[in-house]
Amino acid sequence: MNYAEAEKLLKSCGQEHVLAYWKKLAKDERRDLLAQVAALDPKSLKRCAAALKTGGDTFDSSKGTAPKVAELAGAERAKAVAAGEKELRAGRVAALLVAGGQGSRLGYDGPKGCYSIGPITGAPLFYFHARKILARTIRYGAPIPFYVMTSEANDAATQRCFEENDFFGLNPKDVFFFTQGMWPGMTKEGKIILDAPGHVFMSPDGHGGLLAALKRSGALDDMKARGIKSVFFFQVDNPLVEIADPAFIGYHVLQKSEYSLKLCAKRDPFEKVGMPMQFGSSYRMVEYSEMTKEQCLRKAGKNLYFRYGSPAIHVFDRAFLAREAAKAMPLHLAFKKIPFVEDGALIKPTEPNGYKFEKFIFDILPNAKRAAFLAFEPKDEFSPVKNAEGSDSPATCQADLQAKWAKWLAAIGVKVPKGIPIEIDPVYALDATDLQKVGLALGSE
Ligand code: UD1
Repeated sequence: MNYAEAEKLLKSCGQEHVLAYWKKLAKDERRDLLAQVAALDPKSLKRCAAALKTGGDTFDSSKGTAPKVAELAGAERAKAVAAGEKELRAGRVAALLVAGGQGSRLGYDGPKGCYSIGPITGAPLFYFHARKILARTIRYGAPIPFYVMTSEANDAATQRCFEENDFFGLNPKDVFFFTQGMWPGMTKEGKIILDAPGHVFMSPDGHGGLLAALKRSGALDDMKARGIKSVFFFQVDNPLVEIADPAFIGYHVLQKSEYSLKLCAKRDPFEKVGMPMQFGSSYRMVEYSEMTKEQCLRKAGKNLYFRYGSPAIHVFDRAFLAREAAKAMPLHLAFKKIPFVEDGALIKPTEPNGYKFEKFIFDILPNAKRAAFLAFEPKDEFSPVKNAEGSDSPATCQADLQAKWAKWLAAIGVKVPKGIPIEIDPVYALDATDLQKVGLALGSE
């Protein structure tokens, strides 16, 4: 792209100020700015500017009702497990991790997946995810391809982490990295913000950017070529997640669902988790920030009426993802402090001054022809690392990991004294039953 083409593109969407400092830019700065402009999509820019006028795609949740949530037990659970195991043995299941986020609340600079969480080894979050996938691959004798979404900011460091750790034992051919998109920040008036005279401020387009990125990168085609039917989605911050859990996969398949969600009873009425609600015959995820106080506190008998929150553990039908990847997703606005250039000088604002734009993957829920909701016990599967201290911190997560492992050990008669750290490699034992088998084998030696 040359200057005239850049000017034409920017003029078509009222953003020609992006070239305001052109005459003062060095040769390489000009080249980089032209590359940034070439990557801008005028249609999306107009959409972002229009969203600022309307406040983005917000939603009135007042008519929402609580969806029916299944609790699997006994024969029903066994049936779901058998159906899930059949999918796993046939190699029709993939794992999909969104790891493009910035870990800013945690105060950690690198990719969050590299954050050390192993109570004894200090192994990173990625280790626990990858080793669980490897353990299931070994158990069911078929690969579970692992798709990892990164962002421009953390892609190289993420890939380095996998390489330096020999992919945690996974076959590199079954690990597919792809990078999410970036969107420019805008002022309240819908003007693109420059954070240097020759540079547009960009930020990741949210985990909903996943769909466009899956398509752009060829990951969707790769899934199809491998015969994948069910895609297990999870977030990087939760090392307790039971990746490709056969009961969940099986329930999803038996329900002929396009989008299934694991849900857990909220720990308190105002817990910061999303909440699926029913609107007539379709469903929609309502963020905690969009719920009224009355909705949060509403009771049904002894329990909360909106009892279940979403820990962002989903199973998608691959064909559903492909269908949705062809559509535009709703836009969410985040009002943030964005560094900007004024008269050629960089200013770091102390108050929010501009908008970032994000897409959320759960916004495709209303488009699912069939959806399914499955309850689970949060203590066993959900303890995210979000904050440096207090709730949802490394300390609470490590305590929950160890409580889970201690329960497995107790089941084989091993009582671990308080204060002794515990850590179990998922490839050694993926669950209590595995540990029992290992225990029996050791006992018989
Ligand atoms: C999220 C969910 C919330 C859910 C909770 C469970 C949103 C808006 N909310 O909250 O409904 O109950 O998790 O823990 O998602 N990510 C990217 N790219 C991005 C932004 C995020 O890949 O541009 C990834 C992160 O790496 C992370 C996940 O998405 O794996 C969630 O991001 P985070 O910002 O931590 O979400 P929460 O606000 O905690």
